[in-house]
Amino acid sequence: MAIKWENQVVLLTGASGGIGFAMAKALDKKGVQLILTGRNEERLHQLNALLNHSHKVVQADITAASGRKKICHVCERLPISILINNAGITQVGEFSEAAIPNIINTNLTAPMLLTQEMMPLLCTMPQAHVVNVGSAFGGIGFAAHGVYCATKFGIKGWTEAMIRENFDTNVNFHYLAPRATNTAINDSRVNAMNKALKNTVDSPEIVADALITLLTNNVSRRELGVAERFFTKLNALFPSLVDKALAKQLGTIKKHTFTHHSSTQHDQIGHHSSVQLNSERKKGSSL
Ligand SMILES: NC(=O)c1ccc[n+]([C@@H]2O[C@H](COP(=O)([O-])OP(=O)(O)OC[C@H]3O[C@@H](n4cnc5c(N)ncnc54)[C@H](OP(=O)(O)O)[C@@H]3O)[C@@H](O)[C@H]2O)c1
Repeated sequence: MAIKWENQVVLLTGASGGIGFAMAKALDKKGVQLILTGRNEERLHQLNALLNHSHKVVQADITAASGRKKICHVCERLPISILINNAGITQVGEFSEAAIPNIINTNLTAPMLLTQEMMPLLCTMPQAHVVNVGSAFGGIGFAAHGVYCATKFGIKGWTEAMIRENFDTNVNFHYLAPRATNTAINDSRVNAMNKALKNTVDSPEIVADALITLLTNNVSRRELGVAERFFTKLNALFPSLVDKALAKQLGTIKKHTFTHHSSTQHDQIGHHSSVQLNSERKKGSSL
């Protein structure tokens, strides 16, 4: 069934962020009614004022039961047909004890709970959609991004289970995985790392276009970037080949992301040979 944009009511989490706002702009252009959520109410109102139509703003922390309840309460009175789980956070390098549960809650637990809480409403619609925003790091484990990768692998697996579990319902689940994108989630260290590694960085509008195409064509999965898709597939089939390719980047990744990284360790011995020495040692120890 072709999507009738003007009939859609969309709940968008992380609407005040780089990708979220680009999605809001693209959906607003299509004539949908939006419920924009995030923790920073003032920013949501500022962004709302930049859109062609005026939309609802709900200030809420999705990691708190009270925040999700507030969102659901507003949505109860609306014919919500699309939920976009886009809010997310990250941290790179060393992970503090507090950061680990916070990243897992925001990126994985909260979207699962919010979806579960929204399902009774979505099920009343003739056709509904849940879009979960993953990442290229949901298919490739990447040094210095371990907890973030764990959440994005998790959301990918959960979405796949939901796609299959809902074949017999009116709710279509989708997985949308951007690659590196130019937003505030990436701090100056990550931007410098991406530059040094010559990683392509998309604009948030590219991700928003991919969202519109995914919903228009009712496609279950969309991973952005030809190289990223290729590496994800290679990683699934031959992970040790990707281990070797990424080992060559380890010195650069650590230099930009770990506060206590000693550059001399890699630079004096020669990064490549030190990684090789370590991996030889690891091979020995795992036998
Ligand atoms: N940018 C990239 O390179 C990239 C690549 C792949 C995937 N992604 C994914 O794309 C999604 C959007 O990220 P972005 O790049 O647009 O990041 P961003 O600009 O930092 O935006 C993150 C959004 O999430 C919201 N948020 C964070 N914690 C929240 C919480 N506890 N409750 C409610 N809202 C919360 C933030 O709003 P408040 O702070 O106001 O709450 C903000 O609107 C994320 O899932 C991210 O993992 C990004």
